[in-house]
Amino acid sequence: MPESPIRKLTPFSESAKKKGLKVYHLNIGQPDIKTPEVAINAIKNIQLDILEYSHSAGFESYRKKLSEYYLRQNVNVNIEDIIITTGGSEALLFALGTTMDHGDELIVHEPFYANYNAFSIASGVTVVPIISTIETGFALPSIDAFEKMITPKTKAILICNPGNPTGYMYSEEEMMRLAALVKKHDLFLISDEVYREFTYDGDIHYSVMNIKGIEENAIMIDSVSKRFSMCGARIGCMVSKNKEVMSTAMKFAQSRLSPPTIEQIASEAALDTPKSYFDEVISEYKGRRDTLIRELDKIEGVIVTKPKGAFYCIAQLPIENADDFAQWLLEKYELNGETVMVAPAAGFYSSPGVGLNQVRIAYVLKKEDLISAVRILKEGLSVYNSK
Ligand SMILES: Cc1ncc(COP(=O)(O)O)c(C=O)c1O
Repeated sequence: MPESPIRKLTPFSESAKKKGLKVYHLNIGQPDIKTPEVAINAIKNIQLDILEYSHSAGFESYRKKLSEYYLRQNVNVNIEDIIITTGGSEALLFALGTTMDHGDELIVHEPFYANYNAFSIASGVTVVPIISTIETGFALPSIDAFEKMITPKTKAILICNPGNPTGYMYSEEEMMRLAALVKKHDLFLISDEVYREFTYDGDIHYSVMNIKGIEENAIMIDSVSKRFSMCGARIGCMVSKNKEVMSTAMKFAQSRLSPPTIEQIASEAALDTPKSYFDEVISEYKGRRDTLIRELDKIEGVIVTKPKGAFYCIAQLPIENADDFAQWLLEKYELNGETVMVAPAAGFYSSPGVGLNQVRIAYVLKKEDLISAVRILKEGLSVYNSK
């Protein structure tokens, strides 16, 4: 199993904190945004005599309300098309376990969410990366390039939309091209849409579930973690109209009994979150993104592309080894009692030797903290490079 590039430097950040330093966490997608009051109140008001298992597919009332939420997003699904999972993480594991046998191949647009590597390894699946570069803004490679990667062992293409770690958003046209490809080669198109609401430039999010004609191929992964700033709830879901896929996924769901009970109650209540909450949160993230990119652009030798969605970006730094630099920032560097933690980006690639000089930055902190954190990064780079 690979280490998580997001968490592997945690012992160094803990030591830095023990020394009394303040550490700005740009490494992890843990938002500082408040969870909606309706969800917190639902937990406070819980009156249960027994903390029971729920249905393996999750509470019916929750799935029903979720299907109404999806309808508002123009995604037409029924309760039987939804299995509630322990986070999007478990939904990804179910999707891979359901669609792939050991040794099968999964094509993934690289760089990708680092745990796709871990989930694939845990499922005995081989990741076949299709590389995009910072120079093209991580644009989707040509369909020809995808087609070249397809072998008899290929079972699925996995995308993340909007993308972690790049913030890339797939246009309707790109989704249609992918749809034609999976239809032609009879593959699954697994779309991780946990950041659906987080788009900043008026781009319309195009869900895999909206594409006519690939209902049997489409699997959507979702989560409450980021949408409602409820990462600790550990609630997500797997969605598909393919009955065989869902009945196989149910076997995985039954084997782990049920998703968490209290957190489903909170997640169901979270669906009543007023639109004003999202308006505020999206505008806050947009401001953070603009602040982060503006500040990073000021550092000589740094290359960064403006993310269109989610709350991450990949920054290429004027260094050779981001692993070493990130550890050095925590172990050896401070600016007025503060330092910064970033995630080395190599772990977001499966191709060896790629992304070594890149880091992933999560803009989950307030603007003034982002400005301080980038200042530390800037000064740190200059000290590190003059060693
Ligand atoms: C793209 C993506 N998918 C899935 C997950 C898993 O989230 P969770 O298991 O908290 O729902 C994350 C978490 O950061 C993510 O960034």
